[in-house]
Amino acid sequence: MAAFKGAIFKYNHLYMELPMITAQEAAAYIQHQDIVALGGFAPSGTPKAIVLAIADKARKEHEQDRPFRINLLTGASIADSSDGALAEAEAVDRRFPFCASRAIRSAYNKGKVKFADPNLSQLASLMRQGVYGVPDWGILEAAVIEKHGDVCHVYPTTGVGVAPTICRLADKGIFIELNEWHGNAVCGLHDIYEIENIGSRTTVGITSPMQCIGRPYLEVETSRIKGVVECCMPDEPSAINNPGETTELMGAHVAEFIQWNMDKGILDKNHLVFQSGVGSVANAVMGAMGRNASIPDFSLYTEVFQDEPLRLLREGRVKCVSTGALTLSPEDLQALYREIDHYRNRIVVRPSEISNCPEVIARLGICAMNTALEVDIYGHANSTKVCGSMMMNGVGGSLDYTTSAALSIFTCTSTAKDGKISSIVPFCSHVDHTEHHVDAIVTEYGVADLRGLVPEERTQALIAIAHPDYRPLLEEYCRLSRQKGGQTPHVLSAAFAMHDTLMRKGDMRLTDWNEYIL
Ligand code: COA
Repeated sequence: MAAFKGAIFKYNHLYMELPMITAQEAAAYIQHQDIVALGGFAPSGTPKAIVLAIADKARKEHEQDRPFRINLLTGASIADSSDGALAEAEAVDRRFPFCASRAIRSAYNKGKVKFADPNLSQLASLMRQGVYGVPDWGILEAAVIEKHGDVCHVYPTTGVGVAPTICRLADKGIFIELNEWHGNAVCGLHDIYEIENIGSRTTVGITSPMQCIGRPYLEVETSRIKGVVECCMPDEPSAINNPGETTELMGAHVAEFIQWNMDKGILDKNHLVFQSGVGSVANAVMGAMGRNASIPDFSLYTEVFQDEPLRLLREGRVKCVSTGALTLSPEDLQALYREIDHYRNRIVVRPSEISNCPEVIARLGICAMNTALEVDIYGHANSTKVCGSMMMNGVGGSLDYTTSAALSIFTCTSTAKDGKISSIVPFCSHVDHTEHHVDAIVTEYGVADLRGLVPEERTQALIAIAHPDYRPLLEEYCRLSRQKGGQTPHVLSAAFAMHDTLMRKGDMRLTDWNEYIL
């Protein structure tokens, strides 16, 4: 482990030699169609004050009938209120990648914001290749800035995202929000490392979850810092529902399945490393894993770090956490900061191309646990698009983990929207994760372990964990499709009948196959 992990940082004011400006002054630099790249990951560590000032500027420009829309690159989602303000002010033209705000989701589903959904591990690399154009401006959030002559050491707060790449690429300059809310407790938790360009790439040599390979700070040329904005704003946590009976059941199934894989020797009980996905279900699954006494203490190598894993870290059930962000409530984060010396050697926060690095995920033999919106009878999974068209949040890092994990599990409740939607369908209306990468699917009715199963066996295993209301419908679809033949039989005219019925009649249970068999 690198020496800095135990270091104690003092808040220092050397940054005062840098230009101190207001958020509004920073926003004044930004022009219509500029490419603006934000550091941070999820709402954690993303700049806030300048983003709100950009939204305000957009509103004022529009009042004067002047066009003003920026192109926004982020590490992952940003604060709901930031995305909300940008959407309301119609301040964004193009936006990449993942996004969890209802307001911006609605804007791009109406075609008002152009959005695409790259894998988070690849975003920094795509930026370096110039596929999104050269960022004009970079905006970072920092806990501490140290000026060392021509170079500043910028200590990020709760998330990093693509900040190392932004620091090098932003053409017109960098703004830094110095967010005093974090004090300096967060300094030293980071491991900042940027992957080389294709052609000169070396190994990302992480061989255990806590191993550090980089520095605890970002490096920015002092001359490129256009201004420092002081603020004191907590991260805005993502809304997580408390576990209910259904999610508790799913968590228990996952935990038993992990135990079974350990008993079989498929997972090594001495080297259990998990990734835990985003959202309420993933949070509940973590809680159940912690409660299962047969599962030994384990480590996390993951991209988000939600409330339940923190609780387990406190209890010692989670030994250590490598994460892309500390996605915690302000209260939990302050509690963590108060006891930071206890956690300093057990938490590391990494840039997204490292937290989600397929090479590391494969080497550590990670067990990936993500949530899907729907899965189909052969095991494809859709995490992102409702009825194939309406974007939910995005693929995030789920594909990064799924493709490289030693064991890849997807959870989803068997139905959504009061039973009107079955999460198990004949054909996914959009595929993020193919049958080739999805190992097991878990609903509240059990586990479908798809490994080693041929297509017909897969359909049986998946129908067995579908909601009882939908099992006859799915069985009938399989019977009809078998008549058509093929190795993975389908009736193409009926493959989306359940989705079509939902859209026409508001409830998938009303599907009548006769309407679709041509
Ligand atoms: N069709 C339509 N809507 C569906 C659905 C389906 N098949 N399945 C779920 N939903 C809706 C739910 O009703 C809920 O809607 P609401 O917000 O209006 O209440 C919403 O999707 C979220 O579902 P929920 O059951 O609460 O699960 P969640 O909070 O665990 O989120 C995902 C599930 C899939 C949206 C979320 O995990 C995600 O965005 N995943 C993709 C990114 C990812 O996996 N990253 C992992 C790396 S950290």
